[in-house]
Amino acid sequence: MLSLLLSLALSSPTTAVRNGLGRTPQMGWNNWNSLGCDVSQDLLLSTSKVLLDTGLRDVGYNYVLLDDCWQGERGADGYITVDAAKFPMGMKPISDRLHDDGLLFGMYSSAGELTCAKHEGSLDHEVADAQSYASWGVDYLKYDNCYPLGRSGTPKISFDRYNAMAQALKATGRSIFYSLCSWGEDYVHSWGMSIANSWRVSGDIYDHFNRPDILCSCTDPRDPHCAAPGTHCSVMNIVNRVAAYVDRGGPGGWNDLDMLEVGQGGMTDDEYVAHFSLWAALKSPLLIGADIRTLPAKALTILNNPAVIAVNQDPIGRPAMRVRQDMNVKKDKYGEGEVQIWSGPLYPHDQLVLLVNAADEDMTITTDLNEIFVHEGPEGSAPQTKHKYAIHDLWADRMSDREAERILKNGIKSDSHAWYNATETGYKDGLLAGDERLLGRKIGEISPKSAELKVKIPRHGVKMYRLRAPGDVPARYALTKQEL
Ligand code: GLA
Repeated sequence: MLSLLLSLALSSPTTAVRNGLGRTPQMGWNNWNSLGCDVSQDLLLSTSKVLLDTGLRDVGYNYVLLDDCWQGERGADGYITVDAAKFPMGMKPISDRLHDDGLLFGMYSSAGELTCAKHEGSLDHEVADAQSYASWGVDYLKYDNCYPLGRSGTPKISFDRYNAMAQALKATGRSIFYSLCSWGEDYVHSWGMSIANSWRVSGDIYDHFNRPDILCSCTDPRDPHCAAPGTHCSVMNIVNRVAAYVDRGGPGGWNDLDMLEVGQGGMTDDEYVAHFSLWAALKSPLLIGADIRTLPAKALTILNNPAVIAVNQDPIGRPAMRVRQDMNVKKDKYGEGEVQIWSGPLYPHDQLVLLVNAADEDMTITTDLNEIFVHEGPEGSAPQTKHKYAIHDLWADRMSDREAERILKNGIKSDSHAWYNATETGYKDGLLAGDERLLGRKIGEISPKSAELKVKIPRHGVKMYRLRAPGDVPARYALTKQEL
């Protein structure tokens, strides 16, 4: 009965903010991680060209997001102006160009007197600013949390402050994706879904896999009262923070684990693969943070893996949940080290399994169907444990470095390889059609008889599998007409 109730609850789609946006996590590029305040119209236009040339737009990254530092003064009429030295054309011609290229345009402000880089914020100017964004053709607003004039500290106070902009955006009549950046404060995971399409869950990410830093002060991931989410939060810190409420994300509104660091240079290739896999599995937005005009080839082969992106863009939109955290492993010089296993349903009746070796040595990790399906029923009681599954490795067909180098040099058009074009066929249709590029490479089987999945995983690496049930198993999650 419990499992029936659970599956009924899971199968009713979340309606969220009801602006029709964010059916799957947003994908795109944001300048902040790599370029900070060094923004300009040339940056946006040259980056959008790279998104097209490298095929990144077509693999799904279609939002071009301008972060802080674009603002001029606020005029006597109450309307915000644009820094004319950085954006001499103004914003509308930029959004027009992006739209012509099949891209969407996002901007940034703060629910405060000032933004985090101390430019004009939008607090108490929500209506005027939302009107400006709409008139500039903006499709997305990232809304930050700095300098809120003391209006924070309870869920209700923060909700009201963020809701003012939600209502102002709605009143413009333009479809604008609303992305909250309140760093997990005031239990945003409990109310973000009601007014927004995504909400940040932590302080700012930095380019380290697991190094603790005093600036990311919320070291106890179970403490919901973290007073200073801060910056310098590692990949594993953010993952541990969201683990307890990762299920709050779903179609229409997503937990935002912050922009990606892939390609920035501070982590190993294994660590970047782990970072990207976790963000995809937990259904975080996938927002490239590197300067893609100088992207390393290896980073491109992570960011453009369609089998992993298909997990993130899965039509049922269920974030993977953690089924194991084992702290009893070799620690590194920071005292950090753990193993985690994440698992979750994929359309139509597949299951994602993500094994994360965050220990300080290579490890052999073993799991079984009972553990993989523990959220469907304890101790092997879940019906899913009775089936046989084909195991598909989602990283086995990663693009070669040589191919990525060719693409970065000559552009995707001059290349003949069969990369996935989601602009032509969206992930949902590709999955429904059983496109091999989205399903990964079959490497074996797991069944109730041979129930063990045992794999060697390098230090700070992952294995990411799609377990495919035989076709005669009924789909576990029906999609509504609207979702189909
Ligand atoms: C905050 C946000 C970052 C970025 C900066 C800009 O720190 O969390 O993502 O937008 O502000 O100033």
